[in-house]
Amino acid sequence: MPAIIIVGAQWGDEGKGRVVDNLAGEVHLAARYNGGDNAGHTVVAEGHTLRLHLLPSAVLHPYVTCLVGAGVVVNPVRLVAELDELAGLGVDVGPERVKLAAAAHIILPTHQALDGAGETARGAAAIGTTRRGIGPAYADKAARTGLRAGLMADPEDFGERVAEVVRAHNRLLESAGVAPLSPADVAAQYCACAQRLRPHLVDGTALVGETLEAGRVLLCEGAQGTLLDLDHGTYPYVTSSSAVAGGALTGLGFGPRHVSRVIGVAKAYTTRVGGGPFPSELLDEHGERIRQAGREYGTTTGRPRRCGWLDLPILRYAVRVNGLSELALTKLDVLTGIHPLQVVVAYRRGREETRHLPLGFGAAGLEEWRPVYEEMAGWDESLGEARRFTDLPAAAREYVARIEKAIGIPITLIGVGPERKQTIVP
Ligand code: IMP
Repeated sequence: MPAIIIVGAQWGDEGKGRVVDNLAGEVHLAARYNGGDNAGHTVVAEGHTLRLHLLPSAVLHPYVTCLVGAGVVVNPVRLVAELDELAGLGVDVGPERVKLAAAAHIILPTHQALDGAGETARGAAAIGTTRRGIGPAYADKAARTGLRAGLMADPEDFGERVAEVVRAHNRLLESAGVAPLSPADVAAQYCACAQRLRPHLVDGTALVGETLEAGRVLLCEGAQGTLLDLDHGTYPYVTSSSAVAGGALTGLGFGPRHVSRVIGVAKAYTTRVGGGPFPSELLDEHGERIRQAGREYGTTTGRPRRCGWLDLPILRYAVRVNGLSELALTKLDVLTGIHPLQVVVAYRRGREETRHLPLGFGAAGLEEWRPVYEEMAGWDESLGEARRFTDLPAAAREYVARIEKAIGIPITLIGVGPERKQTIVP
């Protein structure tokens, strides 16, 4: 009856899909538990490259049932488009296999417009959101004015409810000087989506509960990462959902006693997209080199990602707030040829020093602290062909060992290239 949780240990984009791929053979149900189509990962199927935003990445593994869980906010137009794209490639995305929790919340185009208006109003302090309407949809959920996916069971009535909410949002948009949207047009579009999605609706907690009670394996796929978590990230520069491991329990509706593994995923360096503090950010040629070698451009927005050195206090923080049992380290190959390497080992403020991430007072508190670096030897060998830990050059092995020592949990997977097979399981 195990549940395995996969969670980003940094600011998202850690390569969680790679870890899912590696586990999918032993999984029965894969579920997204947080976020919406702000997430994105690139997958290669049947020779086509496609970008998934809403469905669990395990959707490409034919024997895995997939669930978009209650904690997710769903843009039905995007979900239909994603299902169509996959169906066009011959992937079975029928309602027997791909399911949508009735308790998930709906994103409307007016949520997207409000997201954009909010960002514009914040000016220089903009969060740098993906403008997918994530924050406004979760705000409506918390205010108890949101629409849940289950309403799509009655498409006509759903259309009417959509029009009502669009009218309310339009008043907010008009006061922000943004053009309103046609309630009738949005209602018609959403009613059509509901016709399509209705057969996929399920009671998500029942599906999850039955899976666990039958001794089957549930894989909980986290989106974004620990430092983008609404409660435990670099607030206010965060997303609006629970990205940490605890979000899997609330977002899917099961209890902690089922959890057998919590796998954190981290890159061998650090990246973030959007605004907010990033103490080890590299604004020099090393940062650019990592960006090019790691193809660090957002999957959802195409924005260049900010790149920096690995930060061990961040990883220790992720171990703590998620209860990680192990870490998957991705993109080690990207660091080839960089000399010397630096890693953040502590933070300093005046005479005070801490090995932990001083995030207790949010993003503003973190600004007062300076990272303390340790220099490490780099390597020049390409790592793409390495399949065993011993195939790695000594400096790369030491880099991995240094991380393990700092975080106190084992590294159980190392990514050495973009292809599935470029994986070492030490
Ligand atoms: P939102 O989730 O669109 O509201 O954006 C809030 C913050 O989270 C912004 O800094 C985004 O760049 C960031 N963000 C949202 N989704 C992802 C993701 O999947 N990867 C990395 N950053 C993300």
